[in-house]
Amino acid sequence: MTEGDIINNPRPARKRRMGCRPADIALEDIVRNSRVCVTGGAGFIGSHLCEVLTKHNEVVVLDNLSTGKQANLEGINVEFIEGSILDPKALEKAFEGVRYVFH
Ligand SMILES: NC(=O)c1ccc[n+]([C@@H]2O[C@H](COP(=O)([O-])OP(=O)(O)OC[C@H]3O[C@@H](n4cnc5c(N)ncnc54)[C@H](O)[C@@H]3O)[C@@H](O)[C@H]2O)c1
Repeated sequence: MTEGDIINNPRPARKRRMGCRPADIALEDIVRNSRVCVTGGAGFIGSHLCEVLTKHNEVVVLDNLSTGKQANLEGINVEFIEGSILDPKALEKAFEGVRYVFH
């Protein structure tokens, strides 16, 4: 058995075919110089995602603050839109000029 072989896990074979492990690819290598939207960006996971994405992208957050807090985005350069993903008008505004959406 070699490193990376996990019994009953179909992933190792796929990893070998692709020639690299998922961990070798960083988000910032793929998503750069783009306007992106993070729904739920004021939450725990979303705000950490925003922190990474703002290094190389313009980030717009759509969040209704139902559980998230704007304080989670303090010091992170995002455009914040308070609204729900269930509101088509808020979505239209948040997605304007956006290349990628992280939901
Ligand atoms: N935190 C974890 O360890 C973990 C692990 C596995 C999966 N998840 C899943 O990932 C997602 C995010 O988790 P989290 O811990 O960051 O939660 P969170 O509550 O901190 O973040 C969710 C964000 O979504 C926002 N939101 C909720 N409804 C919305 C709506 N209709 N429109 C716009 N924004 C809305 C909230 O205000 C909040 O800011 C959840 O679906 C959770 O179940 C989390």
